[in-house]
Amino acid sequence: MVKTSSLVHFCFISCLVLFIFAGSWYPPSNSSWADNSKQTTWCTFKNRIFSNSKACSVLDAQVQKPIDHAAEIPHHPLDPLTAQEINCVRTILSTYEPFSSTFPIIHSLMLDEPDKLQVLRWTKGDPFPPRKADVLAMLNGQSHVLTVDLDSRRVTSHAINPRSGYPMLSVEDIKAASKVPFSNAEFNKSIAARGISLSELICLTPSAGWFGPNEEGKRVTKVLCYSNQGTPNFYMRPIEGLVMTVDLDTLEVLKFSDTGRGIPIPKSTNTDYRYKAHGKEPEMEPLNPISMEQPKGPSFRVEDGHIVKWANWVFHLKADERAGLVISRAMVRDSENGELRNVMYKGFSSELFVPYMDLEESWYFKSFMDAGEFGLGMSALPLVPLNDCPRYSYYMDGVFAASNGKPYVQPNMICLFERYAGDIGWRHSETQLHDFQIRETRPKVTLVARMAATVGNYDYIFDWEFQTDGLIRIKVGLSGMLMVKGSPYNSLYQVPNQDVMSGPLISENVIGVVHDHFITFHLDMDIDGANNSFADVKLVKEHGLPGESPRKSYLRVQRKVAKTEKDARIKLKLYDPSEFHMINPSRRSRLGNPTGYKIVPGGTAASLLDHDDPPQLRSAFTNNQIWVTLYNKSEQWAGGVLVYQSRGDDTLAVWSERDRPIENKDIVLWYTLGFHHIPCQEDFPVMPVVTSSFELKPVNFFESNPILRAAPAFEKDLPVCRPSAS
Ligand SMILES: *[C@@H]1O[C@H](CO)[C@@H](O)[C@H](O)[C@H]1NC(C)=O
Ligand SMILES: *[C@@H]1O[C@H](CO)[C@@H](O)[C@H](O)[C@H]1NC(C)=O
Ligand SMILES: *[C@@H]1O[C@H](CO)[C@@H](O)[C@H](O)[C@H]1NC(C)=O
Repeated sequence: MVKTSSLVHFCFISCLVLFIFAGSWYPPSNSSWADNSKQTTWCTFKNRIFSNSKACSVLDAQVQKPIDHAAEIPHHPLDPLTAQEINCVRTILSTYEPFSSTFPIIHSLMLDEPDKLQVLRWTKGDPFPPRKADVLAMLNGQSHVLTVDLDSRRVTSHAINPRSGYPMLSVEDIKAASKVPFSNAEFNKSIAARGISLSELICLTPSAGWFGPNEEGKRVTKVLCYSNQGTPNFYMRPIEGLVMTVDLDTLEVLKFSDTGRGIPIPKSTNTDYRYKAHGKEPEMEPLNPISMEQPKGPSFRVEDGHIVKWANWVFHLKADERAGLVISRAMVRDSENGELRNVMYKGFSSELFVPYMDLEESWYFKSFMDAGEFGLGMSALPLVPLNDCPRYSYYMDGVFAASNGKPYVQPNMICLFERYAGDIGWRHSETQLHDFQIRETRPKVTLVARMAATVGNYDYIFDWEFQTDGLIRIKVGLSGMLMVKGSPYNSLYQVPNQDVMSGPLISENVIGVVHDHFITFHLDMDIDGANNSFADVKLVKEHGLPGESPRKSYLRVQRKVAKTEKDARIKLKLYDPSEFHMINPSRRSRLGNPTGYKIVPGGTAASLLDHDDPPQLRSAFTNNQIWVTLYNKSEQWAGGVLVYQSRGDDTLAVWSERDRPIENKDIVLWYTLGFHHIPCQEDFPVMPVVTSSFELKPVNFFESNPILRAAPAFEKDLPVCRPSAS
């Protein structure tokens, strides 16, 4: 159980510092910096050259000890299940009567968090509320939803097929279904007819969605294949039009569809994206090595495995099989009086929805729900030091259950680091017009918790970024491979009617099919306590009375507190602007304003599909960008607990329909970040990251600017690097 990948951060004195402030800035083009091959860079600190040992002693303090997960124990009621606890759940289930003859396939096994009140009342040293596990399992084609109490060693609740839908796919499901084509004679014939061999095929199992009664009553997947001949980037070489509908439990082929025999498999040329595969350097000046340096080490610390403390923030951070990364109990220290104040009880990406815009037989079903169908944590591979996360990052593992119920480690799944990107925290200058001069400015340093999920072809990078001014920025980056479609056309000049193409031609014989990405976040804001209200703070246009002012029109603020869940269903509109505040009506600033946080949408997109289109029905949580629901521990997953082939009977839209009162209650904010993606040539063969974000920003939460007294940066505190002959 000891994690295999090394966490040791090596000390390289020669590249300790390569980026410094103006004043000792060397333009790279005409100085010795440009030619690194003949130079060594020495770092000095207050005019001293670091000896190797001194530099390393600074860094040694930050070397992260590998965690022995086999011996791990929980320290906080929200800590994920440990390896021992997962083993214990397996033992309890194996002696549980309904499973005594056959152990079910475990599709998900996670901590069943204690009730919120119990967590809020708990302080370090107290006994834990009962440790429980939520288990989703499959047995004989049926979904089992169980709660296992680890203290009493009993199954305390057990439902079979409580609703439509199945648990997320297991690795075994995917492995077994992707082998099915290789023993299918019809498939074999089609492959032979296309002049290729079975040995060059890689087959994937995209989820089948749900499209009415034909596919109900059994778990199905679609199987599609690609050629990996001449490239590791098989995604760019689809065997177009060949798709099999496979029963996941019997592995029977339910439907065979072969429509694309006339479509060539796109060539492998220029599809390899690996560094080592590059034949030639790009036509651009190379960049010198760069990194951010922290001569005294990072300013954050991680206590008891999951509690992160940094500047004025404290929060609980954990890896999650389904959500990927979960932030809990986020609290910020008030700079006026030192009070640690509640901001967010729990925040995470609850569900994703990725519909493709192509109606053909081998495409129509592509409408993925990545968290509930595949698991964002299950899909998260180890982060790559220096490239995924900067130096001085702290890495956190995930400990999950395999389908046999045994624990395994998803190493280096989350990284935590301080970010200084040359940005400004606040500033003002006064000069010239007055007889005094002021230049006050503060650098912006933030703390980032990051996770990257690779769900098949796509990579999703999730950042939770904390600022000292109280702001939290949630950012999603998309990269990886497009899901592409083979085309008979080499160039647009051959296409008789471009209107019938489901996306642009992005390479020879490759269409990048138009699609959307929606990421819905569960944001259980608890501003200064659990009971909050949601206010739509509108800007409305008013007109003056005739002759009142030379101006005709102006904007006025109009606040409307949502009474019920339906009042808080928000569609964003540019010409009908609003701010959206989560406020605590019973806690006021000295001036009488309720304390609050607002959600600040960034660039986003809305789903335009018909509400009764089956994929949209299942993903009805994207019908609005903002929703507010009454807190209910069982309503965490916006697309429902059982998402695979669900019919949309357990979504956020269904819960909100109850229209419960939400004023001055414990409420949850939901926000959907959306992207429309019309692919382009630059997305081939791997997409440069596209990002979008939103913010949770204090409004009248602090008495004044909370970082007013933050110190500026001083040259004397920073190491200085100079290139010198070796
Ligand atoms: C596939 O076809 C080849 C001949 O093209 C044959 O040798 C092989 O046995 C076939 N495999 C299956 C599983 O039908
Ligand atoms: C929230 O308000 C309810 C009444 O609606 C009250 O019973 C409850 O104690 C309050 N909770 C907190 C944490 O203040
Ligand atoms: C909490 O959520 C579950 C699942 O949606 C639902 O069955 C239950 O009725 C809800 N409880 C309350 C008090 O609304």
